[in-house]
Amino acid sequence: MACYFEWEMGRPLFITFEGLDGSGKSTHLRRARRWFVEAGMPVIETQEPGGTPLGKAIREVFLDPAWTSLDGTVETLMVFASRRQHLLEVIEPAIESGSYVLCDRFTDSTYAYQGYGRGVSQALLRRADELATGGRTPDRTLLFDLPAEVARRRGHSPSRQLRDGGIDRLDSEDLAFYERVRRGYLALAERSPERFFLIDSSGSLDDTEGNVRRALADLIPSLETVR
Ligand code: TMP
Repeated sequence: MACYFEWEMGRPLFITFEGLDGSGKSTHLRRARRWFVEAGMPVIETQEPGGTPLGKAIREVFLDPAWTSLDGTVETLMVFASRRQHLLEVIEPAIESGSYVLCDRFTDSTYAYQGYGRGVSQALLRRADELATGGRTPDRTLLFDLPAEVARRRGHSPSRQLRDGGIDRLDSEDLAFYERVRRGYLALAERSPERFFLIDSSGSLDDTEGNVRRALADLIPSLETVR
């Protein structure tokens, strides 16, 4: 029993999918969820900002292009408010019940977008992170990496805009902003190599899927045979 418990405790249940808008992370998260389900493993899919009724309300305001002049600190406080509620209401209870949690963005997004993108200081981000989450980090993070220019082209494709309901507030940032965000993500990955899996998502969906399978193969033994 003790051994089983230790194994349970050591499982990387909290898995996040990170990357620029247009990097394909959400598509691959949905595919990965299907693999867990098909393998009979408990799993939930969730999202930030969002994941709870309060989080969804914050997300609407956060992405609304009407708020053209939100500064980085305001953005930081909004995403951490959503995150704390998300952790308390959804993420921690799911993990305690032994479920995998596949989360579309988490605190790395804040370090990348508000920190590197907007220039909010690391000290302020760390304080907000400590207050809201106690510095909680995911067990594993799949970072979908590609040049900012390619991500923007994909993110602005007419089909994606149709699906997502038009351009949101952060979509209208310039290329330099997205280049800073990408650099931020790569710096975060370099700092925590034990947690990050870098996934080259500049190629086709199928090429990228191969990389995602490799990043999850130790968790889903049947992955090679599941389609
Ligand atoms: P999504 O379209 O991938 O759901 O992300 C929504 C937008 O919110 C995306 O442009 C990234 C941004 N965002 C932040 O700026 N900071 C954060 O902490 C999170 C979670 C998202």
